[in-house]
Formats: sequence, C-alpha cells, structure tokens
Amino acid sequence: MADYTTIPDSFKLGVFRIAPNMVLAPMAGVTDSVFRRLVLSLGGCGLVVSEMTNAASVSPKASRRHRLLDYLPEERPISIQLSGSDPDLVATAAAYVEALGPDAIDINCGCPSPKVTGGGHGSALLKDLPKMSQMLKAVKAATNIPITLKFRAGWDDTSLNYIETAKVAEDAGMAAIALHPRTKVQGYAGEADWSRVAEVVRAVAIPVIGSGDVRTPADALLRLEETGVAAVMIGRAAMANPWIFRQIEQLRHGLPLFQPTPQDKHDLVARYLEMCAEVMVERQALGKLKQLIGQFTIGLRGSSQLRRDVQRVNELAAAREVLHNFFEPFISGAEAAVEVPDEVAVIKEGCENGANN
Ligand SMILES: Cc1cc2nc3c(=O)[nH]c(=O)nc-3n(C[C@H](O)[C@H](O)[C@H](O)COP(=O)(O)O)c2cc1C
Repeated sequence: MADYTTIPDSFKLGVFRIAPNMVLAPMAGVTDSVFRRLVLSLGGCGLVVSEMTNAASVSPKASRRHRLLDYLPEERPISIQLSGSDPDLVATAAAYVEALGPDAIDINCGCPSPKVTGGGHGSALLKDLPKMSQMLKAVKAATNIPITLKFRAGWDDTSLNYIETAKVAEDAGMAAIALHPRTKVQGYAGEADWSRVAEVVRAVAIPVIGSGDVRTPADALLRLEETGVAAVMIGRAAMANPWIFRQIEQLRHGLPLFQPTPQDKHDLVARYLEMCAEVMVERQALGKLKQLIGQFTIGLRGSSQLRRDVQRVNELAAAREVLHNFFEPFISGAEAAVEVPDEVAVIKEGCENGANN
C-alpha cells in the first residue's frame, strides 16, 4: 500500500496555515453556504471558496449585502471569489468584501462562460495579461488579507500562457494561485493536464493549487505527490461524493475508507434539504434539491426515476416523502444498493450555470 504520510498535508496562505491541504472548489450555483457547511461537517476539507460573485454587483452602496457573500463563522477558513475586469471596480469590491471578514479573496480569471467572458471577465483576462496584472495589483493594494488567483491554462491551445499568468500573479503579490489546466476553449472536454500544474509549481515560489478531474481519494494524493502542488481543489467529485475529503484523510493515514451506506446517503440528502429550507423559501430549497439530487444519488439503482419524481414535487413534505420512499428499500435491505451505470448528466458547464450573479 502506498505511503502517503510523507506528502505535505498543509500549506501557507499568507499568515494562515491551511490544513488539510484539500480545498472545495468554487462552483457557481452549488457551493453556497449550505453546501459548504454540509461538506465541512463531513470532515477533511481545509478551505472552502464561495461561488463566483460579479464585482459589479458587490457595492458598498447596495442596500443589502449580496446573498453570494453570505457565510457563517463555522465555514472558516473561507475565501470569497470575485470576478470583474475593471481594476478600480474590482479593487473597491474587494475592499468591501474584506470588511465582511473572510479569510481570503480569490479573483476568477478562469470562467469560460460566454456570458462572463463577453463582459471581459473570467478567462477573457487570459487574453490581456497587462490588464489582469493591473487588476490583481489594484486588489492587492486595496486589501490586507491574502488574495489568490484562479485561472485556466490559456484561451486556447495556440495561446497557452499558464506560466506567464502564474508569474503575473506572483509579481502582483498573490498569496497563492489555483490552476485548472484546461483552456477556455476546451471547456470541460478532454482531461485536465496536470503536467501543466507541475510546470507552474516549478516556475513560481508561491503555493500552487491544482484543480481538475480529481475523482477519487487516491487521485488527490497522487496529484499532490506527483506534481508538488501545495493543495488539491475538488469540485464535481464533491457533489457526487461529499465524503471525499474525509476519505482522503483516511487514505493519507492508512485507515479504512468510510463507505457511506444508503442510510448515510438518505440522511445527507435529507439534511441538505432541511438546511436549505432553513435559509431559503420553500421553492428555492426545492430547486436546490432538484439541482443536486442526481449527483447525490449517482450509482444507486433507480435514481433516474427518483430524479424525475423529485422534479415533480412542489412542497417540502412531498420531497421528504419521495426521498423516504426511494431510500427505504435500500435501508431495510429489501433492495441491494448496487452501483449501476447511471446516465445522469454530470454538471459540467462550470460557471455557466451560475453566471447570473
Ligand atoms: C457547476 C460548476 C460551477 C463552477 N463554478 C465556478 C466558479 O464559480 N468559479 C470558479 O473559479 N470555477 C468554477 N467552476 C470550476 C471548478 O472550480 C473547477 O475548477 C473545475 O470544475 C475542475 O475541477 P473538478 O474536475 O474537480 O470539478 C465550476 C465548475 C462547475 C462544475
């Protein structure tokens, strides 16, 4: 069995030490306060990042603080992600966000959504590194907490500029950088090329976080071992298996991996629904369940019917009943919860889903 105990298990983010060095990736429409708290409650996650928030919608003059900026103290350490293109505007928004007390601010220069890049935000900045540099420096000058950059490998295969971008970020005083090593044009096609992440690790002295296609606990530790990254960021796999962070810790220490039972899965989904209902109106809470139910039940026999049933409910009580009826035969042992190939469409549009902020 591999010995993972010699691999670094923490990293420095400015004055903070983040441990374990596993990060919940920002996912627009998914990683709201409820989802982050759900994942954190299961253990093993060292840092969470908010959904991307458009700096233009974060105004000191707004009558109400933007809902995407909401977080609870138990989510610490937490980083809030902003997108934008106007250096002054993003810097003003960052100063405003800093006053809300997060531990770090992340600047998005990776979102490939046309809605985002059309406005010159997200990965559009990969085509204008002088402007990116100006923006990062302006944000750095306006704040005192660690600022980080999340970016992609380049706009397309003919303009790969991840090394240059990493150096721009280092020069602008970023406390760390996170690379999803696909290009903007690539979207989610193909595989994330972690050799690019390794190249960046060698090119800069600041901590580098790698993101992309980490699907299993072993993937996470192998990426750490092979590339020398300071930390690994996990997105889609944490939707399908929110226990992945706990399992990574167990694997690291040579312990048996927690395998969620149907009862655990039921309780998790039910808890997610109740947590949503605590902070959202009924319709919104049901919308969240409808969005994630397919991910939460990947591999369980009959989950496509469950998804259809959940889509039809319009009351919390009905949703609870549908969940109970689905899980009950597995929990009682009447049905084997065999892993079956599932046709669920893995959410992979990246920030396109949530580009409405
Ligand atoms: C639904 C969804 C929403 C996403 N939203 C964001 C976002 O708001 N900001 C961001 O930097 N990346 C976003 N991403 C990209 C992820 O943070 C991550 O870099 C990417 O999904 C690759 O990692 P994975 O294979 O572990 O999912 C999103 C990805 C998904 C699937």
